[in-house]
Amino acid sequence: MVEIIPSILSADFARLAEEMARVERGGASMLHVDVMDGHFVPNITIGPPVVESIRKATRLHLDTHLMIDDPDRYAAEFVRAGANSVSVHYEACRHLDGTLETIRNAGAMAGVVLNPATPVAVLEDVLEVADYVLLMSVNPGFGGQKFIPYVLEKLRKLDRIRREKKLALPIEIDGGVHRDNLAEVVRAGCDWIVTGSAIFHSADAEGEVREMRGIAAGATAVRV
Ligand code: DX5
Ligand code: ZN
Repeated sequence: MVEIIPSILSADFARLAEEMARVERGGASMLHVDVMDGHFVPNITIGPPVVESIRKATRLHLDTHLMIDDPDRYAAEFVRAGANSVSVHYEACRHLDGTLETIRNAGAMAGVVLNPATPVAVLEDVLEVADYVLLMSVNPGFGGQKFIPYVLEKLRKLDRIRREKKLALPIEIDGGVHRDNLAEVVRAGCDWIVTGSAIFHSADAEGEVREMRGIAAGATAVRV
């Protein structure tokens, strides 16, 4: 089942509860929460207290993407705040295996994120202990950037590797996805599709989620 996951980074933070209810009405069952520390990426967003408040305002799955240095120090705290899945950057982890274990022991799904320039080959052995993989299709830090096309090939490659290893882990993509490139992303093997500005900067966030879910379902039907 392909999921369209609205990224609240592009939502109106002063009206977050309304924005989340809107995309839920459109059929979203997960929300993407971007955590940035001003070090790993040149932008600052939110921390555990805000995730805790978001948790109280929605029943949807909270998919938390940590774009921070030293994720070991904070990952479990985000699970305690209410995150259902927490992903950490390969590029930020000194002991990736241990970090994934910490997240899982805290009670959430543990994901690994790769920046666009990091090859999928680095994950070959760790795939067995990851619950999902997130491929960045923009350089992390900001919403509204342009999709980097070579990431499609990384997606196909990772899809091949997981089939060979008979692993069912979802592949997620994040950055620059909109109606026009969505079908191609799904056909390349993606399961969880994060999309921020395409949803929240549209005049009708609810309708946009519905529309994108329809496109994704159509593209899944032709996936081999
Ligand atoms: C970028 C974030 C993304 C961002 C995607 O660093 O990780 O989740 O919200 O936004 P769009 O869909 O606008 O590229
Ligand atoms: Zn993200």
